[in-house]
Amino acid sequence: MNALQATDLVKSFHVEGRTIDVLRGVSLAVPQGAFHAVMGPSGSGKSTLLNLLAGLLPPDSGEVVLAGRPLAGLSDRALTLLRRRAVGIVFQDCNLIPTLTVAQNVALPALLDGRDLPPGRLDALLGLVGLTHRRDQPADRLSGGEAQRTAIARAFAMEPGIILADEPTGNLDSPAAADFCATLTRLNRALGAAILLISHDPQVAAAADVVHVLRDGRVLGAFETRHDPAAVSAAYLRALA
Ligand SMILES: Nc1ncnc2c1ncn2[C@@H]1O[C@H](COP(=O)(O)OP(=O)(O)O)[C@@H](O)[C@H]1O
Ligand SMILES: [Mg+2]
Repeated sequence: MNALQATDLVKSFHVEGRTIDVLRGVSLAVPQGAFHAVMGPSGSGKSTLLNLLAGLLPPDSGEVVLAGRPLAGLSDRALTLLRRRAVGIVFQDCNLIPTLTVAQNVALPALLDGRDLPPGRLDALLGLVGLTHRRDQPADRLSGGEAQRTAIARAFAMEPGIILADEPTGNLDSPAAADFCATLTRLNRALGAAILLISHDPQVAAAADVVHVLRDGRVLGAFETRHDPAAVSAAYLRALA
């Protein structure tokens, strides 16, 4: 059973009479509980792919099955509920509410869904991301790394089957990025949600178990990382060659 399955995704944009073919038939699957990454050069279609996988943008053709549900034909309301309950999304810009505390930001998805987080879940999440001591800190007083670890705790809050992360370390320095990757690995192991991490950085992608390589809107192949950044870098360059 897959947490996420994409089949033959095609997406073009039409701008000022021109057509940009961004995705030209992308298929990939992330098994339940797995930690995968997508690497690809800038402009290869990574963010477009993530938007399609999250149901934020419809494909021209092809199919996405998320948490066992085909996205095609779901109403906007059903998509919103699925995104809130079954998938956690993290962007480069962590999108925290600056005046709310760390704890309030992490609990927000539950609040939006009209309930409280189960007892103990907030404490467990804060512990896993190393922010127990910052729980009452307003989000606008966090370091970049702390803010992004708050965002990832929030993404896990609703016990999603899969986390989608688009260049989440893009604004972090390398120690903070390494810390973020270690946190992702810890959450994946402890909570069992699958992760699809988009990054062009071999150091970051090496946190995943498997990397899919995207270029010019096509998946060129996939390889196992063995958590070795040098090997990831070499395999990535080989795939692009
Ligand atoms: N909404 C849009 N309208 C027009 N072109 C877009 C849009 N979104 C992305 N593109 C184009 O699609 C291509 C891939 O973009 P993107 O998916 O952001 O790539 P990546 O995340 O790999 O850098 C780029 O050429 C980009 O300019
Ligand atoms: Mg992008």
